[in-house]
Amino acid sequence: MTGATLDGIGLTKRFGGLTAVDDVSVRTEPGSVTALIGPNGAGKTTLFQCLTGSERPDAGQVLLDGVDITRRTPDARARLGIGRTFQRLSVFPTMTVADNLGVGAENRTSAPAALRIAALLGGILGLPVVNERKHRPRVEEVLDLLGLGEVRDTVAGTLPTGTLRLVELGRALCHDPRVLLLDEPASGLDTNETQHLQDVLRSVAESGVAVLLVEHDVDLVFDVADRVYAMAEGRLIASGAAADVRSDPAVLEAYLDVSVS
Ligand SMILES: Nc1ncnc2c1ncn2[C@@H]1O[C@H](COP(=O)(O)OP(=O)(O)OP(=O)(O)O)[C@@H](O)[C@H]1O
Ligand SMILES: [Mg+2]
Repeated sequence: MTGATLDGIGLTKRFGGLTAVDDVSVRTEPGSVTALIGPNGAGKTTLFQCLTGSERPDAGQVLLDGVDITRRTPDARARLGIGRTFQRLSVFPTMTVADNLGVGAENRTSAPAALRIAALLGGILGLPVVNERKHRPRVEEVLDLLGLGEVRDTVAGTLPTGTLRLVELGRALCHDPRVLLLDEPASGLDTNETQHLQDVLRSVAESGVAVLLVEHDVDLVFDVADRVYAMAEGRLIASGAAADVRSDPAVLEAYLDVSVS
């Protein structure tokens, strides 16, 4: 599958009296890494959830290659090729690393929600959930790309956070996404792991996937992203090429906490 363009157009999301996302438009294009930055509470995750379908926007549209998917469920979006990871880690702790990735591969053909339930039950009852033979080539490819070969048969719950972040990314990659959305993938990673993640994200983008990254680690963002959007208090305060956004006075002030006079 080739990459696709994901557009959020004029997205607004309110929680009671709070406008968490206020008329924000973002575009994620195939073959590139787009990053979304902003201080805590800026609305990044809420915008991300509107793009993945976990939140329904109060206004605005989400388009995948120009097709309106605003009303599609997260599962329908997954089947259309939108892969994602979560800010709070979400791996199946009782399954091995390879089986976690296999679930991602299985997602391509089954409804993700049904599969999640099957995976949970399978993990508890010790039943096979994943059609190993069918998905093995893709799983092996991704294990290789992420350097997870050594822990392929290790039960995920015993692994450190840094490795689990890669497992979660691997699961999304096994789904063969056209667009890959990542919410704080570097959280809990050490310097080496972050560097490795950066290389992986570049090679995923180079394979044609559209990658959107929500991230606090500005060094990672400005090293890896082609295009950066900066949010503060629900609004977009800057966007453009990474180098331009990095030196934008509004970004320096609002996000990097540097006072510009
Ligand atoms: N489900 C919700 N119900 C009510 N308020 C919410 C909900 N989700 C988010 N908010 C509020 O919306 C605002 C934006 O939150 P959001 O999680 O999108 O920010 P963020 O930029 O992802 O922050 P962080 O960097 O801490 O992850 C915050 O004020 C938050 O408290
Ligand atoms: Mg967040």
